[in-house]
Parts: sequence; structure tokens; C-alpha cells
Amino acid sequence: MNTLSNDKTHFLVGQVAVITGAGRGIGAAIAGSLADLGATAVLCGRTRAALDSAAETIMDAGGKAEVVPCDVTSLESVEGAAKRVESSLGRVDILVNNAGIGGFGRPLHQLPPDAWDQILNTNLRGVYFAIRSFAPMMIRARSGHIINISSITGKNPLPNGAAYAASKWGLNGLSYSVAEELRGHSIRVSVICPGSTNTDLSPHAGKDPAKMLQPEDVAHALAMLVTQSPQSFVSEIILRPTQKP
Ligand SMILES: NC(=O)c1ccc[n+]([C@@H]2O[C@H](COP(=O)([O-])OP(=O)(O)OC[C@H]3O[C@@H](n4cnc5c(N)ncnc54)[C@H](OP(=O)(O)O)[C@@H]3O)[C@@H](O)[C@H]2O)c1
Repeated sequence: MNTLSNDKTHFLVGQVAVITGAGRGIGAAIAGSLADLGATAVLCGRTRAALDSAAETIMDAGGKAEVVPCDVTSLESVEGAAKRVESSLGRVDILVNNAGIGGFGRPLHQLPPDAWDQILNTNLRGVYFAIRSFAPMMIRARSGHIINISSITGKNPLPNGAAYAASKWGLNGLSYSVAEELRGHSIRVSVICPGSTNTDLSPHAGKDPAKMLQPEDVAHALAMLVTQSPQSFVSEIILRPTQKP
């Protein structure tokens, strides 16, 4: 018997989904989509006003949202967010590691060390901090789904964006490895590698924004992952725009 209902509107009712970088772009679209599926969306990020506005949009549409400001480059901040989620909501079912920054436009030998640190500390170490802080709650519950937002750049070379590419290649390796570590705890780990997406992350010079992926396309792919029946999981999605932008 197929345990999946055709109507997935209430699929995540009672569940808690934490989304980093949820104030705008892909993260805001993911938070909205998970709330549409019935989850309480916990919106994390550094800019309180952006988080409040994204949460308001969700609540205006009848969804549940909480704002928990957090900087993924600080272990103290991420651990504080996890404690807050545990004390106010008591659980975390879905963790979406989406927070990320770009850093394009110059060859690696011209990249200042502080820019390297900022990119790697956000896009890669931040995911480690979030998993370190939130996975124990999932392990105790013997259930959970962690979804890391990587990039198609994690599969390809990116001249003038080597640090960003390194962060995303690293994130893919981290995701495949943690998936094996957590499988025995009934926790699923997936990674999504989107192509160019129409957000503030990068000007995407020379590309047609109308042909690029939209944040909602990534949110839709993630919704497919979290509505997969629990005995299986999609470990990786490579998401491309239909027409080359
Ligand atoms: N756009 C693309 O073409 C594309 C393609 C493939 C993959 N991606 C990936 O998708 C993810 C989302 O990017 P986006 O395109 O939606 O970019 P975006 O619009 O610039 O959003 C990035 C989000 O990350 C948050 N963030 C940045 N640094 C943070 C930190 N230290 N702690 C917590 N939150 C932080 C930002 O909020 P605050 O600044 O307020 O903290 C913002 O909400 C990134 O991981 C990116 O690498 C993007």
C-alpha cells in the first residue's frame, strides 16, 4: 500500500523545520513551502528585520513560523538557537542548511584570506556547526531529515569563484559522509545542488534571470525530499533550469 497521501498539504503537521538563511532568497521560499506543508518553520539568519518579514508572509498565509536569529559562523550562536528550539518547540524534524554567501569575481591568488575565511566559515563550517548543534535532538528522537543546499558549483570548476566552489565541493563530501553516519539513527541526509538561481547571492552577469531557476524551484525540490515515505530517501538532487540562462 502506498502510504503517501495524494494531498500533501498537511504532510508535515506537528513537525518542526529549521531553515538557516531564511530571511530572503531560496531560504525564504523553502520556509514558506515547508509551512505550506504544515510544519512550524523556524527562520534563522543574521538580519532580524528580514526574518520577521519572511515569518509575517508565512503567518499571513495561515502558516506557523518562529524567528530565531542566528549566525552560522558562530558555534555559540548556533548552539543557542538549538537550545531555543528545543525549549520552545521540543523537537526538530527537518534541518535545512541553506545559509550561504558568494564571493565571485577574482582569481584565488588575489582573494584576501579574510574573504576565504568568511566563505568557508559560512558555507561549510556553518553546516558542521548546525549539524553538531541540531543532530543530537534528532538522534534522541531516532528520526529527522537534514537537507544541505549546495550548488551545481559543487560538481564543476568555477573560475574566479574557487573558494565558493571549494566550499560547495566540501559540502557535498560532508553530506555524503554524514548521511552514512546518521542512517543508523533513522536520520536522512540529502543534498540539493541547484544551478543559477535568481536571488541576491550573485549578479549572474550575462544570464537571463527569467530563464534562471527561481527560489520556488529549489523549494519544490526540497518539498519532494521531505514528503518521501520514511523508509527511503533521495540522497542528492541536481537541479537545472530547463533553458540555459
Ligand atoms: N543563487 C544561486 O544561484 C545559488 C545556486 C546554487 C546554490 N545556492 C545556494 O543557496 C543558498 C541560499 O542562497 P541564495 O541564493 O538564496 O542567497 P541570498 O539571497 O543571498 O540569501 C542568503 C541567506 O543566507 C543568510 N546568511 C548569510 N550568512 C549567514 C550567516 N553567517 N548566518 C546565518 N545566515 C546567513 C542571509 O541572511 P543574513 O545576511 O541576514 O544573515 C540570507 O538569508 C546558499 O547556500 C547558496 O550558496 C545559490
